[in-house]
Amino acid sequence: MKPQEIAKDIYDVGIRDWTCSDFHGFSTPRGVTYNSYLIVDEKVCLIDGVKAPFGPKQLYDISEVLPPEKVDYIVVNHVEPDHSGSLPLLAKACPNATMLITPQGANELKEHYGDIFKLQIVKKGDTIKLGKRSLTFVPIPMLHWPDSMVTYCPEEQILFSSDAFGQHYCCSKRFDDETEVENMFYEAQRYFANILMPYAKLVPNAVKLVRSLPLRMICSCHGSIWRSHINDILDKYEAWGTGKTLDRIIVVYDSMWGGTAAMAAAIMDGIQAQGMRAKLYRYDSSLKAVIVSDILTAKGLLVGSPTQNGVMMPTMGAFMMYLKGLKPMGKKAAAFGTFGWAGGAQKELEAAITASGMELLPGYNCKWRPLPADIKAAEKFGYEFAQKVSGK
Ligand code: FEO
Repeated sequence: MKPQEIAKDIYDVGIRDWTCSDFHGFSTPRGVTYNSYLIVDEKVCLIDGVKAPFGPKQLYDISEVLPPEKVDYIVVNHVEPDHSGSLPLLAKACPNATMLITPQGANELKEHYGDIFKLQIVKKGDTIKLGKRSLTFVPIPMLHWPDSMVTYCPEEQILFSSDAFGQHYCCSKRFDDETEVENMFYEAQRYFANILMPYAKLVPNAVKLVRSLPLRMICSCHGSIWRSHINDILDKYEAWGTGKTLDRIIVVYDSMWGGTAAMAAAIMDGIQAQGMRAKLYRYDSSLKAVIVSDILTAKGLLVGSPTQNGVMMPTMGAFMMYLKGLKPMGKKAAAFGTFGWAGGAQKELEAAITASGMELLPGYNCKWRPLPADIKAAEKFGYEFAQKVSGK
């Protein structure tokens, strides 16, 4: 069956990886897509490859539209293997195709697959004519890798935006107005938090650039196509990129014998008594991506762990390492927990908060299990933390 046309002579030859529930450690309960588009004009151009195991399916879909030897260009917006994995296969099947890529991308491609491709370097503002249509290239370094770029087709008013505006979201329909768009926004937030958060400061400029373009569609390389909610997703990116937050605190902990869990519950009572909204998670690695998505839009974060063998629990250690990489901006944070004959977790949690770039506030811990007086003190700690975070 011929692939779906998303606009006249522009075909969806991407992949829906319905059963992928883990994308390099990021849980993806709604599956993953690797989007790719074939533009058929006087010259034929493929936008992006797909993950390696799906190369034969992408090639089959291309050949349903035209013989692969007719492909003149392959735009490589991004070299991460979810988009470049099929390129070695495509290079053989499309011998007349030149790959259009940034200078950084050209190096990365060689470093991944060897010197096997016919490449043409493109720089900011470079344009190629396909016939009735043209394509203009704009690098967006670090969104998501140094090589990343977006490709704009002015005649169609379509932006092929690479990872930007993506969602790990499989849907049998292609467009935002054919699905439950709130699921797309939810997955776009999870995507931003878990993939783009370390580079969030670069986002407002990218949004400004996108807003300056006449746009009919944003085709990210992940998820469904934005066409009826373009301004909404741009507003959200602007908010996430500028660190706009809700009056909310996220509390994340793990516990051995229930002491830290009891403190967490009391801290929640204190936060809510102060008037701030709060959300409580007992850490579980399967929830990591969801927790981080909530942290993106929260003003404050509390992390808790008992001391185990002189250090924080390994579960919380893994979580704090993940946060260190993501560098959540503009948050106030503190640590809490219990200890026995000697402490250790509190100090480690506090060092990890600082290493993540968050502002460290005083924490609270208690010896062995919290007794009623300690529970009262934990409530007070939660209340006062909420006061400091809200500024009220
Ligand atoms: Fe979808 Fe950064 O790759």
